[in-house]
Amino acid sequence: MLRGAIVGLGNVALEGHLPAWKDRKDFQIAAGVDSSKERISIFKKSVPGAVTFESFDECLVRNGRDRSLLDFVDIATPPHTHFALAKAALSAGLHVLCEKPLVLKPQEIFELDALRKKSGKILMTVHNWKFAPICRKISHLVREGAVGRVKRLDWYVLRSGPSVTTEKENWRLNPEMSGGGILVDHGWHAFYLALEWLQGRPAKVSATLENRQYESLPVEDTAKVSVTLESDGGPRSAEIFLTWASRVRKNSGLLEGTEGRILMEDDKLILDIGPASPQTFAFEAALSAGSHHPDWFNFVIDEFLSEISDASLAGRNFDKARACLELIEKSKASSAKGGAEMACS
Ligand SMILES: NC(=O)c1ccc[n+]([C@@H]2O[C@H](COP(=O)([O-])OP(=O)(O)OC[C@H]3O[C@@H](n4cnc5c(N)ncnc54)[C@H](O)[C@@H]3O)[C@@H](O)[C@H]2O)c1
Repeated sequence: MLRGAIVGLGNVALEGHLPAWKDRKDFQIAAGVDSSKERISIFKKSVPGAVTFESFDECLVRNGRDRSLLDFVDIATPPHTHFALAKAALSAGLHVLCEKPLVLKPQEIFELDALRKKSGKILMTVHNWKFAPICRKISHLVREGAVGRVKRLDWYVLRSGPSVTTEKENWRLNPEMSGGGILVDHGWHAFYLALEWLQGRPAKVSATLENRQYESLPVEDTAKVSVTLESDGGPRSAEIFLTWASRVRKNSGLLEGTEGRILMEDDKLILDIGPASPQTFAFEAALSAGSHHPDWFNFVIDEFLSEISDASLAGRNFDKARACLELIEKSKASSAKGGAEMACS
């Protein structure tokens, strides 16, 4: 059994991660860390046997004394804290599962890459949208070649505002803490889904970041991003539109392949191939419903365990996270230059 600490006991940790960890027999949450006493007391009611700390430093001191306390950490704090926490955890010989965005700066991902290789520990980002039932179905259809070679993805995320946070001051609206607005909040998910389904390497990006509704916000409420990917089967493209300035809450998308297309309408998929009648797959919950999904997170735990157990899989998730960060950085740079095309490395 692997024993871990959750660092950051906010909304996603207690409503999305903890219920999934508690259902597992192969993992145990042995510690909880949060700078807020209130969040610690909510956590303690749910995991009475766990030890708690008001800082990760204190937790590491205890782990140094009691070597059997921890094998891993699950970081679910606001984005600006991820780098220092992941660095400290890897340096202490712990595996790391971290919420998205993994980090906010290229130099940080570079340092963590070196550290994860040196430590031999896993550094994985929570790419949970891959595991939403409707996204798993898309992945399955793509893998079995239902629409031939996938050439293009259109992806739309409509929200009526940013999500709330446990603290009164919403870190999502502070660029120093969040790294940006909806581009960082939802773009990270859109990018790893595009990489998964289009199976290519990002080559070029152009983007426009705007404030359509919340004009005084210091972060963008709307992002339009075009990504060109290179692959052995030729170029592929992703057109991504994300907004907090919508009246409706909805996710939709379209995957076009050489032999057909898959339409995603939040709670249904329509597979449209050649002259055959389109086939519809209905889902219990819309992709846009709720923000915390223990059922999706359970698959994230499986992925974490696979990377820990099988050396040949280690780093697969990290490579996608590195590409997500580059796409975010290049999107910001493109928007600052009026939507100019930026080359990827
Ligand atoms: N993958 C997803 O679907 C998804 C969904 C929601 C949030 N997230 C991500 O999860 C992370 C947390 O988001 P949230 O909505 O739960 O935020 P939140 O504000 O609800 O929770 C953050 C918690 O971290 C604590 N905290 C802040 N700094 C700390 C520190 N240095 N040490 C210990 N505790 C600290 C706060 O007290 C708070 O309890 C973010 O990175 C966010 O992007 C991911």
